[in-house]
Amino acid sequence: MSLPLGPGLAGTRILLGISAGIAAYKSAHLARLLKKTDAEVRVVMTAGAQAFITPLTLQALTGEPVRTSLLDPEAEAGMGHIELAKWADIILIAPATADLMARLAHGHADDLLTTLCLASEARCLMAPAMNQAMWRHPATLANADRLRELGWTLLGPDAGDQACGDVGLGRMLEPEAILTQLLAALEQRPDKSSKAMCVHQDLAGKRVVITAGPTREALDPVRYLSNHSSGKMGYALAAACAERGASVSLVSGPVTLATPPGVDRIDVTSATQMLATVEAQLPCDLFIGCAAVADYRAAKVSEHKLKKRDDESGLTLELVRNPDIVATVAARPDRPFTVGFAAETRDLETHAGSKLERKRLDLIVANDVSREGVGFGSDDNAVTLLWLDNGQTQQQPLPIQPKATLAGAILDHIVAHLP
Ligand code: C5P
Repeated sequence: MSLPLGPGLAGTRILLGISAGIAAYKSAHLARLLKKTDAEVRVVMTAGAQAFITPLTLQALTGEPVRTSLLDPEAEAGMGHIELAKWADIILIAPATADLMARLAHGHADDLLTTLCLASEARCLMAPAMNQAMWRHPATLANADRLRELGWTLLGPDAGDQACGDVGLGRMLEPEAILTQLLAALEQRPDKSSKAMCVHQDLAGKRVVITAGPTREALDPVRYLSNHSSGKMGYALAAACAERGASVSLVSGPVTLATPPGVDRIDVTSATQMLATVEAQLPCDLFIGCAAVADYRAAKVSEHKLKKRDDESGLTLELVRNPDIVATVAARPDRPFTVGFAAETRDLETHAGSKLERKRLDLIVANDVSREGVGFGSDDNAVTLLWLDNGQTQQQPLPIQPKATLAGAILDHIVAHLP
């Protein structure tokens, strides 16, 4: 379907869907802004939306009857729901609640708005609006991913104060921002399988440096010390940062993963190489130390292969400490927002909390690698975020979920706390 887009939205048929969020009061202003572009605007409201704003308000602003029910013989006698679905060039839902997102992500058609979305070939966009904890919930984040896969463009949500008193990501974008982002999204015309084009660009203009994977510390030309890190979490974070518009340098230890699209990857082997490479990438806005950096390296790397002795005696290796990369970055006068990881097998919060302070981090992502199904090598992870707020340690557990979704949830927290 091609949109009759001249300059702006003149002549475009926009179906504005309103669902049951407190931000619905801003939809009246949005309807007015859309009308001012000379678009044709018709409004569909869910049953819950009418508790926040009356259909009469939207009717007065658009000059068109507002549809609220699928089973309304009078309205169906005018423009039936299938005709309305075909009429629309664009479906824009603002606000889109968590419940509406869940229903649309799963193809429900249990009211007029969801039925229209299923029956329409229009370009579909939504501005999510909900409490920050609801937005961060893995179920909502998974629904958001599914909607993007289905071709929806998500505009926002925004970070800041919420009607319920919370602060965080989840506010509906202001109507002016919705209009601006709508126009920008229409210019991009992503194909339905392209997720990256649709993701909210809340890291646009930011420079991010991420370390990932293990390091290898040579003992001789054929042997090394290393660990089981697969690099999956760091790569998922790099992919998510790039999708959200950041310019990303991924300083990677030896792993077998493909480079995420749009990410500049620099391969290194040892901790000292990793530190030098990271320092060459600075300054940046955000540094995420996700690599499992070896704490020690051989005091002297043997030039030739170490030979087994003929007798039964053992071998003693002398090791020296490696530099702490994340702490070195955090100690710089031009320090970025610095995030570290803590893989622990016991006393997770205590150890992670002391690392947070000792390394002067803005956030530490702690995971219990002794738990079944999480951590090294697995596709899923469960973590606890720890940070300091006025000297007090704050915690937020993120339940077990795929590393890709978890990366999004960690970034939601970071974006809400970035200076
Ligand atoms: O002290 P520990 O190794 O548990 O701390 C883990 C965090 O510190 C991770 O973010 C890791 O990337 C970082 N780290 C580092 N340089 C080291 C050791 C750890 O950047 N030499």
